[in-house]
Amino acid sequence: MEKLRIQGGRRLTGEVRVGGAKNAALPELVASLLTDEPLRLTNVPAVRDVATIVRLLEHLGVAVERGDATARAQLGTLEGTEAPYDLVKTMRASFLVLGPLLARTGRARVSLPGGCAIGARPVDQHLAALARLGVDLRVEEGYVVAEADRLRGGEVVFDTPTVGGTEHVMMAAALADGTTTLRNAAREPEVADLAVLLNAMGADVEGAGSDTIVIRGVRELGGAEHEILPDRIEAGTYVIAGALCGDSLRITGCRPSDFEAVLDKVAETGADLEEGADSVRVTARPPHESVDARTQPHPGFPTDMQAQYMVLMTQAEGTSIITETIFENRFMHVPELNRMGAEIAVDGHSAIVRGPRKLGGARVMATDLRASASLVLAALAADGETVIDRLYHLDRGYESLVGKLRGAGAKVERFRE
Ligand code: EPU
Repeated sequence: MEKLRIQGGRRLTGEVRVGGAKNAALPELVASLLTDEPLRLTNVPAVRDVATIVRLLEHLGVAVERGDATARAQLGTLEGTEAPYDLVKTMRASFLVLGPLLARTGRARVSLPGGCAIGARPVDQHLAALARLGVDLRVEEGYVVAEADRLRGGEVVFDTPTVGGTEHVMMAAALADGTTTLRNAAREPEVADLAVLLNAMGADVEGAGSDTIVIRGVRELGGAEHEILPDRIEAGTYVIAGALCGDSLRITGCRPSDFEAVLDKVAETGADLEEGADSVRVTARPPHESVDARTQPHPGFPTDMQAQYMVLMTQAEGTSIITETIFENRFMHVPELNRMGAEIAVDGHSAIVRGPRKLGGARVMATDLRASASLVLAALAADGETVIDRLYHLDRGYESLVGKLRGAGAKVERFRE
C-alpha cells in the first residue's frame, strides 16, 4: 500500500498552484448526461474522485476523453439507467446521476449511498425535492427507483442547505416543464459554478450563489465549454500550511473571495496574509493566537477546512474551541493528531484544543480526505519524520500534493510498504 513520508520542520516558500475544484468537477461531469452534445471542461483536477465519476458516466454510456486538466464528455447512447452500489458506495456524489437520468429518460435506478466515515449523510432532501418535481420514488433493495413521465417545475424549500441536493435538483429542473424555485438553497461557489455551466448549455438558472434559485425549464440542453473554478479547499489547505511554516509562500490560481471566512480566521491568528486578485501570500508569524471556529454553510467557515485549521490551533497560545455543525463524525483526525503530541479533547460537537504543543513525527493513519490533509499539515509542522498510511484518501481530492509541496521546499515522498 502507498504511504507518505514527511520530514517536518522545513520552511515553505515559493509558489503552490491550485487546481480546479473537485466538488465542482463532479456535478459538472454529471451534467454531461443532460445533453447529447459534448461538454468541454477545463481546469479539471486529476484526483481519484474525478476518475470515479468518469467510471460511472462511462458505465452509463458517456464517452469521456481526459487531457491535461481537460475533459470532453459526450453522451453516446444511454446504456442503462442504473447506478450500481459498487460505484455509488465509493463516492456519494455518484447519487447525482439520478436527476439527470430521470430528466432524460423518465426513469432511473440508483443505489442509496448509505452513510460514510464523516457521518450519516442522508439523501432525504434530494428525494423530497425530486418528489416536488412530480417524481414517483420508492426504495427497493437499497436502490431508489424513480419514475416520472415528465418532470414539472415546483417549489422546493430545503430543511437545511444541502450542496449536493441543490445541485441535483438544479440539474433535474433545468429540463422540467415550468419553473422551479429552490429556497434555503446552498450558496457554495460550486453551486454557482454549476449554474454557469448549465446556463452555457442553454438552461435558464437565476440566483445560484444566493439562497433562492429560480430555474425555468427548457426542452433541451446543448454542448458547452466551461472552465471549472479553482478549488477553495485545496487553496485553504495550503494557506494553513503557510500559516504554520510559510515564508512568503504564494498560493496562486485561486479565488480568495471564495474562502474569505478561512482567510479572515487565519489572519486573526496572527499569520501575515496578503491577498491578490487570484493569489494569497502567507508567512507564518508565531506565536499564533488561539481563535475559535464554528463550521457553517457557505459563506461561513467550511467544514472541509475544520481538520486543517485544528492543526494550526495546536500551535497557538492558549485554548481554542472548534465546533463542527455540519457533520456528526468529523473529528477522526483528533486521535491521530494527539498521537503526534497535540492535546485535543472532543466534547460532543466541539473539540477543545490546548496549545501550543510541540508536534513530533509518528506513524499515523488517514481516515478521510480532509483528515488526511490535516495529518500532512501536522507532519510539516512536526519535528522528525511522519509516515501517513492509507494515502488513497488524500488522492481523492488533492492533485499532485507531493509535487506541489516539494516545489515549496517540503521534504516529502510517496513510497510503498
Ligand atoms: N443532509 C441531509 N439530507 C440530505 C442532504 C444533506 O440531512 O438529503 C445533511 C448532511 O447530512 C449534512 C448537511 O446536510 O449534515 C450538509 O450536507 P450537504 O448535502 O451539503 O453535503 P454534500 O453535498 O453531501 C458536499 C461536499 C462535501 C462537503 C459538504 C458540505 C461534494 C461532492 N461534497 O457534500 O465535501 O463537506 O458539501 O460543504 O460537493 C469533501 O470534499 O471532503 C467533502 C466531504
